[in-house]
Amino acid sequence: MNDEINIEAGRLLFARPFRFVKGCVRMDDLPPADRVEVAFAGRSNVGKSSLINALTGTKDLARTSNTPGRTQELNIFEPADEVFRIVDMPGYGFAQAPKPKVEAWTKLIHKYLAGRPNLRRVYVLVDSRHGPNANDLSVMNQLDKAAVSYQVVMTKADKPGTMALEANIAATRAEIAKRPAAHPEIIVTSSEERTGLDLLRAHIELLTRS
Ligand code: GTP
Ligand code: MG
Repeated sequence: MNDEINIEAGRLLFARPFRFVKGCVRMDDLPPADRVEVAFAGRSNVGKSSLINALTGTKDLARTSNTPGRTQELNIFEPADEVFRIVDMPGYGFAQAPKPKVEAWTKLIHKYLAGRPNLRRVYVLVDSRHGPNANDLSVMNQLDKAAVSYQVVMTKADKPGTMALEANIAATRAEIAKRPAAHPEIIVTSSEERTGLDLLRAHIELLTRS
């Protein structure tokens, strides 16, 4: 079947070499809306850039840091044959960066999430130790309102114990249950231990097929 998750196809999609295309500070900087885009959103420090590195099997394609506010632009990545695009977003919420800068990138995040015609899915990253916070829920509200498809990815699953992890997954599942634009399946990942990556790659591959 053409609409089924295919782990091997996902692996092959991400076996390509990826390159950094550009960093965008305003909507006008974005490349033409001519191919499928998937974006990684989430609060500062949740592990967006680390997850992109883990998915693409690279160490420093996307820059990561222990300091919240590392990614300050919409950073665009493409595989060598340019079949789709990955967008690493700045984080929302607390960031160790000057206030005007944070305000500017927060505006950009909201504009991008609501107004990008080729944005096929937003991966909303949620920390496995905490479950979704108020900022996550307000971004989900915005995506529901704009009818932009999104899917929750739990990050840093190596951090909480099994009981806390299960409780936080259950709480997240309850939060998304009635949301019209949310994909019902939650993907649990650890970039550190490289778990959940095959499944996420396969979900993304499915989006690039049509
Ligand atoms: P901003 O760009 O600042 O919004 O952050 P980000 O969401 O891109 O987070 P980043 O990938 O820079 O990671 C933040 C910190 O979390 C870094 O110190 C990473 O090493 C750590 N981290 C990311 N993923 C994991 C994971 O799966 N497990 C563990 N234990 N740490 C992780
Ligand atoms: Mg980042």
